[in-house]
Amino acid sequence: MRIPKRLMLAAYRVGSYMVYGTTAEANWIYEKVQRPSSCFIVAMNLLYWKLRRPRVRGIVALILEPVFDCNLRCTYCPWSLMRPRLEGLRPRLMTWETFCAAVDTAPKTVETIQFSGLGEPLMHPRICDMIERVADRGKRPSLFTNGTLLKGDLLRRLAQTPLSVLNLSLEPDAETCRKYRGIDLDTVRKHVEEFVALKQPATEVKIRMVVHPGNVDRLGAVWDPWRGLVDDIKMCPVFTTDGAGSPFLCMEPWRGNLTVWTNGKVTPCCLDTFEDLVIGNIHKEAFAEIIHGKAYRDLLNRFTKGAMPDRCANCSSPNIGQMPTLLPRKPVGRR
Ligand SMILES: C[S@@+](CC[C@H](N)C(=O)[O-])C[C@H]1O[C@@H](n2cnc3c(N)ncnc32)[C@H](O)[C@@H]1O
Ligand code: SF4
Repeated sequence: MRIPKRLMLAAYRVGSYMVYGTTAEANWIYEKVQRPSSCFIVAMNLLYWKLRRPRVRGIVALILEPVFDCNLRCTYCPWSLMRPRLEGLRPRLMTWETFCAAVDTAPKTVETIQFSGLGEPLMHPRICDMIERVADRGKRPSLFTNGTLLKGDLLRRLAQTPLSVLNLSLEPDAETCRKYRGIDLDTVRKHVEEFVALKQPATEVKIRMVVHPGNVDRLGAVWDPWRGLVDDIKMCPVFTTDGAGSPFLCMEPWRGNLTVWTNGKVTPCCLDTFEDLVIGNIHKEAFAEIIHGKAYRDLLNRFTKGAMPDRCANCSSPNIGQMPTLLPRKPVGRR
């Protein structure tokens, strides 16, 4: 059974407002969760979080890190901010063997597989093969990219893949793109134009922006370069792990997402760059053992008891509802 998109988004807006105090999370959830069975799992996970139960019902999305390396140095990204500590932490590329171990053994409940992590996915030489295999396994593939490598043969090949969503991480205007991401907005826009002309009809193209003190006053004209070209613009508040902790119980470990780093280690938080929350390794354990195993349970127990690892205690991410995450509405009557 397929629930109509508008109905589902409306329900997610209500849910997002009730949980986060902002409707901005609805789009994010929709991207990963569209099957009724996944909705049920997410609802149960949220209930467990609310009741502070150290368990999850299931996992609906995997985030894979195909590349632990990047051609950019965005000013707010851990990749730039924590360079010396990141050097050599894990392999630069996820091997095909690790990728297949993750995708081929992913639980049936997993609906979406997202290529992201700490690095630039388009730097992986087999990224298009990976997307195709995810779709062959009946999962929805989506991808985050900085857009700079979206050109030439790679662009043409990527456009032919059954990608569900291409997320481009950008800043609101040319000046902030240059200043905070070191990129030329016009160049990336040309790449996007070419991709949109060649892509599969079902592939959605979205812009993803981090809202931070340096761009928060620029959001009013955010649609200007993208009218008629992209399907949506989403945003998310900048997170920091420098002591700006949160009084809220972080929901991340209950969200029904697991991240697999290039080395096969599995963590319930996509911000767990330094692997402090690792609950297993896909080369050593089956996903079912990881999801229902002791390490995950112990971790959830620590969260409910307020005894999180220092990194989580210092993370600003659970403060999401405190940030201005609403964008100007998409212009009416356009694509
Ligand atoms: C780490 S990047 C990896 C994928 C790809 N390189 C890209 O830029 O889209 C994934 C997402 O995290 C965002 N990001 C980076 N640093 C962040 C921060 N401090 N707070 C919130 N999001 C951040 C990026 O803008 C991007 O949308
Ligand atoms: S492009 Fe992505 S991974 Fe690279 S520095 Fe920017 S946000 Fe980080």
